[in-house]
Amino acid sequence: MIYDLIVIGGGPAGYLAAERAGHAGLNVICFEKNSVGGVCLNEGCIPTKTILYSAKLYDGAVNGEKYGITSTGISLDHSKVLARKNKVVKMLVSGVKSALKSNNVTLVEAEAKITGKTGQEYMVAADGTAYTGKRILIATGSTTVIPPIPGISEGMNTGFVMTSREALSIAEPPEKLAVIGGGVIGLELASYYNSIGADVTVIEMLDHIGGENDIELVGILQKNYEKKGIKFYLNSKVTQIGKNEITFEKEGQIQKISADKVLLSVGRKPNISGIGLENINILTEKGAIITDERMQTNQPEVYAAGDVNGKSMLAHTAYREAEVAVNNILGKTDTMRYESIPSVIYTNPELASVGETEASARSKGIDIDTVKLSMRFSGRYLAENEGGDGIAKLVLDRESKTVVGAQVLANYSSEFIVTCGTFIELGLTIDEIKKIVFPHPTVSEIIREAIFRY
Ligand code: NAI
Repeated sequence: MIYDLIVIGGGPAGYLAAERAGHAGLNVICFEKNSVGGVCLNEGCIPTKTILYSAKLYDGAVNGEKYGITSTGISLDHSKVLARKNKVVKMLVSGVKSALKSNNVTLVEAEAKITGKTGQEYMVAADGTAYTGKRILIATGSTTVIPPIPGISEGMNTGFVMTSREALSIAEPPEKLAVIGGGVIGLELASYYNSIGADVTVIEMLDHIGGENDIELVGILQKNYEKKGIKFYLNSKVTQIGKNEITFEKEGQIQKISADKVLLSVGRKPNISGIGLENINILTEKGAIITDERMQTNQPEVYAAGDVNGKSMLAHTAYREAEVAVNNILGKTDTMRYESIPSVIYTNPELASVGETEASARSKGIDIDTVKLSMRFSGRYLAENEGGDGIAKLVLDRESKTVVGAQVLANYSSEFIVTCGTFIELGLTIDEIKKIVFPHPTVSEIIREAIFRY
């Protein structure tokens, strides 16, 4: 049998591509070496959101006094939180499996390797069996970056140093947790462990947490967490990991802190080795597969979607890239755009962002205006956030009078940031946006309020 499409990897890019291609009538086979759903479902997006929801409920209950709730006798059972997380993951994984089945995708739970090309067909081997296909979609995802810090491999061997995988499944929560890297993973997991009572310290190399996000908003987020007890060391580079000890250099000074566990969250890198790229001469650059706007590699019948191309390591980007690849395979012209992909840090409060920040717009020479508004201008926000200090920002192109970016520090922002993504994607003008009705009372109304202040 010659497959129309061989998909390597069953994460968001792989399983969605397989589903879409199967739905369109292609003969599809999908290989997954671990668990279907990939990092996102099994040890990333979904598990974190599940445990963070428990933490949020717990925080709300513990701090209920200001909402008229007497908070006594409240506790969080970490083992039950983990059990529920496992149940949610299991349900979603089985949902993906049944979606693959109902779209006639053959799922092979084994590691696949591209072995070469004969004539027009590509060959893949898995578990001693050879498979042939007309096209391949590589969707092998990414793994945690392990930086060459002295003592790190010893720390990983003893279990002192964890990646997000272990941090999402350890039965005994640490009393003292050190987090190396104040990016998305570091902040989300620092938030969970802080909520459940751990003494958390975040060590970040840059002068701010939260990566590329708006500098003012991440500053407020940091202050929120400092009030909750997290310690932050910025401009700090870890130089050594010892036994229950982390050494770092901050502004020329050597400092040490102790911890029971260390979470390593300094980034992720594409999985490009061991899949046989060299057997069909697939080109890579900076450790990622090179793809064009159709998600094609240098071999036109070979596509790559998701983290493996290193463009935007987010599950929702992977979904869209997968669709672009499949549409092109089906002969429908479709191209990938990265300008309006939202990103969210699921801290409490959430920080959602899309498009340009003030700083990134200025660095690109875009002539911008910004509107900055306290979240207190939303009635719903005020009703639900006693003492909240969230902010919404819109970045506007002065010439075209369109939105080029938005950042919102407030809960639910993850749910409505796509509104601003839509403005950007469709190039709506301020006057057009003003005619859109938002439901009242919602936190999302802050966007409408901000638009009218321009
Ligand atoms: P990241 O790139 O978001 O953050 C890593 C941080 O570590 C950066 O701030 C960097 O300056 C810092 N760093 C690097 N080396 C360091 C060192 N030696 N000492 C101290 N700090 C150091 O990477 P992260 O958090 O590991 O996430 C990986 C990927 O997973 C990202 O691409 C992210 O988009 C994705 N992800 C997305 C989530 C979401 O959308 N909510 C949730 C979790 C992960």
